[in-house]
Amino acid sequence: MTPPEESAARDDEMLVHGLAQLVDSRGDVSDPLATVGDAYVWIRNGRFAATGRMRDLPPEAARLLDDPDDPRAFDASGCIALPGLVDSHTHAVFGATRAHEFERRLSGATYGEIAAEGGGILFSVRDLRSRDEDELVALTHPRIAEFARFGVTTVEVKSGYGLTAADELKSLRAIRRLAEDPGLPRLVPTFLGAHAIPPEFASDRAAYVRLVIDEMLPAVATDGLADFCDVFCDEGAFRLDEAEEILTAAARWGLGLKIHAEEFQPLGGAALAARLGAASADHLIAIDPAGIAALAASSTVATLLPGTSLFLKLGRHAPGRALADAGATLAVATDFNPGSSMTQNLPLMVPLACLNLGLTIAEAVRGVTHGGALALARPDLGSLEPGSSGDLTVFDAGDVRDLAYHYGVPRVVLTVRAGRRIWHDASR
Ligand code: NIG
Ligand code: FE
Repeated sequence: MTPPEESAARDDEMLVHGLAQLVDSRGDVSDPLATVGDAYVWIRNGRFAATGRMRDLPPEAARLLDDPDDPRAFDASGCIALPGLVDSHTHAVFGATRAHEFERRLSGATYGEIAAEGGGILFSVRDLRSRDEDELVALTHPRIAEFARFGVTTVEVKSGYGLTAADELKSLRAIRRLAEDPGLPRLVPTFLGAHAIPPEFASDRAAYVRLVIDEMLPAVATDGLADFCDVFCDEGAFRLDEAEEILTAAARWGLGLKIHAEEFQPLGGAALAARLGAASADHLIAIDPAGIAALAASSTVATLLPGTSLFLKLGRHAPGRALADAGATLAVATDFNPGSSMTQNLPLMVPLACLNLGLTIAEAVRGVTHGGALALARPDLGSLEPGSSGDLTVFDAGDVRDLAYHYGVPRVVLTVRAGRRIWHDASR
């Protein structure tokens, strides 16, 4: 389904010209990235019209250079451009932050210990339940806007801090309101009612699973509030059989499927995702060889979240190299959330994926563009192909390798969503 803002005819156009390098992120895992030097990108009616070398610039696009003050032209000399970055895994709707827990973790408390005391996800649940929808929209808006500063043009956002029908729907409605703002990155909503067993169901987890399946899912699907359903399948969260029951029900409601799998314990969530034809299986820090083989043999995207291992001080990383070698399709995302990865800096995940998970630069760059788009079942994103959504990210860097090599430094100078600037560096 194409969101209305992208199907509406747009009169505006944009020419990004003089690029040191244009980086195409399609292709197989084993291919190097295709790059074009001294390049342009022409976007019309919200979609890519043409890309190529400056010397081949079509006359119709070249007329945008006639007036040096034409705001539709962007001088990108000394810069590289990629298809707009796609952050395919975030928990961006929450109330208060959890810096106090972070500080405790730095002094030795673990994420599991804090969760067992009723902190962690349950802290965020109590907090979110106390806020109304307007407040959530107001708190989440600047957090989403921050993604645009990091070159992100599409953000998947999960509910999952409500855990009652009313509070899950409230979170998803807040996402829907933010998704209507064309000045923000595009949002893809995911229902994660199965994020934790809420305390009021601690002694009857089966009843909570029934609530998710019998009340929440029908309401979410009937109102069209989510594209995906996700389940946190892990020790201390949902069992494999519960995840299967919830995801199978979600598929019957027509939702795409995702799963938080093998973040801490290898329960078999990745293989379940592959078997159910899920769009992605995410985290995978503790995935075993059978899980790797299952993902590799499927079209389920393996989503790697290198910020989470770092932020939780796990000292363990998802086996990105083994997944890539086995032939799995990879996405790389932030996992932005107040507990286990408090950052919107998707470009920073590129060096982390290379240095800690063993990905090549090409694999990591694909993971934050084309791979992220596949994890959201949106082949119209993450690609420079004419007709694809005109989403573009321009970095102040001369070579794509700098995204990993000059780590944490290349600045985003322009972020374009469907032909519209959603952020640019005012000094240029
Ligand atoms: O993806 N793993 C479960 N959920 C989140 C953490 C959410 C939180 O701590 O608030 C994650 O890491
Ligand atoms: Fe997550």
